[in-house]
Amino acid sequence: GGALENLVVTGGAGFIGSNFVHWVAERHPEVGRITVLDKLTYAGNPANLDGLPEGGVELVVGDICDAALVDRLLAEADACVHFAAESHNDNSIADPAPFLETNVRGTFTLLEACRKYDVRFHHVSTDEVYGDLALDDPARFTEETPYRPSSPYSSTKAASDMLVRAWVRTYGVRATISNCSNNYGPYQHVEKFIPRQITNILCGERPKLYGDGLNVRDWIHTEDHSSAVWEILTRGRVGETYLIGADGERSNIDVLRAILECMGRDTEDFDWVRDRPGHDRRYAIDPTKLRRELGWEPKHTDFSEGLRDTIRWYEEHRAWWEPAKQATEEKYAKMGM
Ligand code: NAD
Ligand code: DAU
Repeated sequence: GGALENLVVTGGAGFIGSNFVHWVAERHPEVGRITVLDKLTYAGNPANLDGLPEGGVELVVGDICDAALVDRLLAEADACVHFAAESHNDNSIADPAPFLETNVRGTFTLLEACRKYDVRFHHVSTDEVYGDLALDDPARFTEETPYRPSSPYSSTKAASDMLVRAWVRTYGVRATISNCSNNYGPYQHVEKFIPRQITNILCGERPKLYGDGLNVRDWIHTEDHSSAVWEILTRGRVGETYLIGADGERSNIDVLRAILECMGRDTEDFDWVRDRPGHDRRYAIDPTKLRRELGWEPKHTDFSEGLRDTIRWYEEHRAWWEPAKQATEEKYAKMGM
């Protein structure tokens, strides 16, 4: 492909999108301009874009469903990396409507502009489109696993993946898709599992574990997600899907006990709460295609070290998360979780 003079990043003020913007701005100065398009929902925070190199990044506050705005921004873009989404399963169970709007209509709106201006598109998706695996199943998800989403969130992400595939085949849009496993690291919203437990402990509240705590997630540091998306964007084959994962399968109860131990608490010092309806049992990614074809390797292979750094980040950034904490816990209290 050609040079990346102007990169549009949707959802670039959220957790993974902002980590990606930092990653690119710090390592790839040849990207002349990064335009972040973000609606700044409850999950978006312009402070996530602080401390970037001068001049290269512009934040446009707006909605990916706004066709006129999207048209104007993509008319000048070489590529669009699409992170914007409603991202939290529990919220999707309480109120699915915004997930349909942003995840489905928003992706459609971006695809239409990419078709019109022949913009290279990378769609950031999730392993949750494949449903779940049993704990004792030796299998992991591959690019060939059939779609079987469980929640309103994952079904809207699956729908968005289908739109991308259809726009590639029918209109020749130059798109790739990645489906990544559970991310952790700095700037993750306090509604998500790891930050919720760390910040509960920092607030003197007990961590909350759903169900029997044996559900397994396949953890990857968000910086490794960024490097994988960059490799796919710049060297991936158009029309292809790549799974992103770093061999990080762990049960929730093991992760929670590791957090408690690292923070000097008793490992039994938490509450069991009601389970998430439809709760997926286990996710697991086989990243062979990404490793073999693009030579990608994760850097953060020591989970305890990554977790320790993440705990330290939340300890040192109270002013970043404290404003969101109370509203988040009020939402959970209403759901009995
Ligand atoms: P997040 O909720 O932290 O951030 C989402 C961002 O999108 C926010 O900044 C929000 O303001 C913005 N946004 C929401 N609706 C918008 C709209 N209509 N128009 C413009 N901007 C809008 O989410 P995240 O965890 O950083 O996830 C980012 C992407 O990565 C999502 O597409 C998600 O499905 C995918 N993903 C997440 C994970 C994970 O572990 N968190 C794993 C795999 C894939
Ligand atoms: O697999 C990728 C997905 O990972 C992404 O597509 C989603 O955007 C992202 O939110 C994440 O989804 P999960 O539902 O796996 O993540 P969450 O952090 O909500 O929960 C992780 C696990 O921890 C899950 O099994 C539910 C459990 N959990 C969660 C919370 C918030 C608890 O036990 N207690 C909690 O308080």
